[in-house]
Amino acid sequence: MFWKATERSKRVSYAIRDIVVEATKLEKQGRKILYLNIGDPLKYDFRTPKHLWEAVFKNKKKSESYAPSEGIAEAREAIANDFKKKGMQVDSEQIMLGNGCSELIWFAMSCIANACDNILIPRPSYPVYPAALNYFDIGAKFYDLDEENAWQPDIESIRKNIDERTKAIVVINPNNPTGANYSKKTLKEIINIAAEHNLIIFSDEIYDMLLLDETEKHYCMGSLAKDVPVLVTNGLSKNFLATGFRMGWIAPNEFLLENSDIMDAIFRVGRARLCAVHPFQYAIKPALEGSKDHLVEAIKKLRERRDYAMQRFEEIDGLSCVKPNAAFYAFPNIELPIEDDKEFALSLLKEKGVCVVHGSGFGQEPETKHFRIVLLPPIEVLEEAFNKIEEFIKERFS
Ligand SMILES: Cc1ncc(COP(=O)(O)O)c(C=O)c1O
Repeated sequence: MFWKATERSKRVSYAIRDIVVEATKLEKQGRKILYLNIGDPLKYDFRTPKHLWEAVFKNKKKSESYAPSEGIAEAREAIANDFKKKGMQVDSEQIMLGNGCSELIWFAMSCIANACDNILIPRPSYPVYPAALNYFDIGAKFYDLDEENAWQPDIESIRKNIDERTKAIVVINPNNPTGANYSKKTLKEIINIAAEHNLIIFSDEIYDMLLLDETEKHYCMGSLAKDVPVLVTNGLSKNFLATGFRMGWIAPNEFLLENSDIMDAIFRVGRARLCAVHPFQYAIKPALEGSKDHLVEAIKKLRERRDYAMQRFEEIDGLSCVKPNAAFYAFPNIELPIEDDKEFALSLLKEKGVCVVHGSGFGQEPETKHFRIVLLPPIEVLEEAFNKIEEFIKERFS
């Protein structure tokens, strides 16, 4: 007898970590691997701000038990105040904490759409979205991000892909994997389309404080969309360099609350998983209300690393890259005669020990080829990686 895993589970994949399986095999054989695949600042020279850890330890006794399913009150109040500062009104009682935004993305997708419905997600996309939709058997429809227009969402592509079963549109802003921060004009166009077609907007804003250029401004979707239902997710992982804390949250705008029972459904699903990890919930209030000095240093490092990477992309024949102005990713275009960017990424890994994620792992416009590289490592590491990428391309293609 062979006990087969379900079809449902086979529909789930996560390219960012799947490639690590190959990298680990090589590492076991004694090869040195430069990991440029995972968007985790803590794997490089970034540290979680001290005052977040202090708050966790200070509240140790209180947090040995389960927490309320929706999260502790002081954290939810701090989050509500933070949204108010960004221009979105939300009552703290309507906010839910999760084990990272990831958990809340799964909850929300399952509460927004039935199996016969579909949700529009960007292409390229952060892989948790297609994974969750596939798992729940919800249709994933893609709209393109336009490389020619600094990776802003292609508004025509959004329009073209909506049908009568489309329930929602996912907007990831700032974006993973492209590093784009969206303009107010683009966001307003998305809001208008959502209004026309009665779509919910699910706005993933987990990188909203990581803007790499002073000219950039981030607009919270909930501050712009007043007559369209919106859910916004955010968390400690990226802005507060605390991926290991697993703290994320989700909040509805007033229009969603007044016109839908989806937030109640998210709370209901949340109760069935008991609660988010309790001790780290105490870091949320000090994070949102305390010093943000860590951002000054983090952004300085990221800007230098981004600028270095951009210089190397210009020098290497066969690669071009739109300059990322937020988050910590670059998504270069491979302008070389290759069949498949997965094969490119795997060969780069096997031959040179550089681990990047193939563009097809994020979904992308057919016929285009990319890879995603993180801008998190110190310049010496990036330099070694870029030297190896350059060697690899020269050996193969010149
Ligand atoms: C766009 C986006 N959303 C959500 C997440 C997951 O965040 P969390 O650590 O809060 O689960 C990530 C992580 O890389 C991400 O890039």
